[in-house]
Amino acid sequence: MTYPNKPADVKYPINELAKNRWSPRVFADRPIEEEKIMLLFEAARWAPSSFNEQPWRYIYATKDDQEKFKQLFSLMGEFNQGWAGKAWLLAVSFVKKNQTKNGQPNYYAMHDTGAASFSLVLEAVNQGLMGHQMAGFDKERAVAELGFDPAEYQAGSMIAVGYPPTLADLEKLTPEQQTSELSDRKRKVLTEILFKGKFKAS
Ligand SMILES: Cc1cc2nc3c(=O)[nH]c(=O)nc-3n(C[C@H](O)[C@H](O)[C@H](O)COP(=O)(O)O)c2cc1C
Repeated sequence: MTYPNKPADVKYPINELAKNRWSPRVFADRPIEEEKIMLLFEAARWAPSSFNEQPWRYIYATKDDQEKFKQLFSLMGEFNQGWAGKAWLLAVSFVKKNQTKNGQPNYYAMHDTGAASFSLVLEAVNQGLMGHQMAGFDKERAVAELGFDPAEYQAGSMIAVGYPPTLADLEKLTPEQQTSELSDRKRKVLTEILFKGKFKAS
């Protein structure tokens, strides 16, 4: 038995990267090559943004730098610490809150940073890697400890990235984690989220 692949059960045949992306909670114990790491952030860099503001910033650490890796690891809540330490790379996205051109709040800052992070995660799939985004971490500490001025920046999400695991890696998970790792991926049906012309509450 190989490690589960959990492609989306699509109704229409979407592109392979989007179809094959999912959020694993275990990774192979294997380093990610430096070039691939740069490709991840290059993909984020080329995301679209309102007024081309590019409000995203990223801090990352890899397992071979224990001090920096542990600092990012320490930001996560207990649940995420239970699995994300198995990733080779941890990253935190930050969001520049105001527009550079006029200092006014950038309504689209978090939206655009999410787009950049999703681009990163899709590039991970393209590089044979897997990424898993996280909301469960201490955002105030992340801003304070990683060099950002809280008046200008807020934390977005954390992202764990690594090579897909083998079946032996799956056995490192607790029984509950294994169950969620092996369970089906679920989505609302298209008619619950898509409306022609006008929204109709169900
Ligand atoms: C912004 C964001 C925050 C998330 N936070 C967490 C988290 O803190 N812990 C976790 O295990 N998964 C987290 N996830 C992963 C979601 O649970 C996952 O994407 C969702 O269940 C759909 O599964 P899939 O990505 O495998 O399709 C997060 C995803 C996103 C996009």
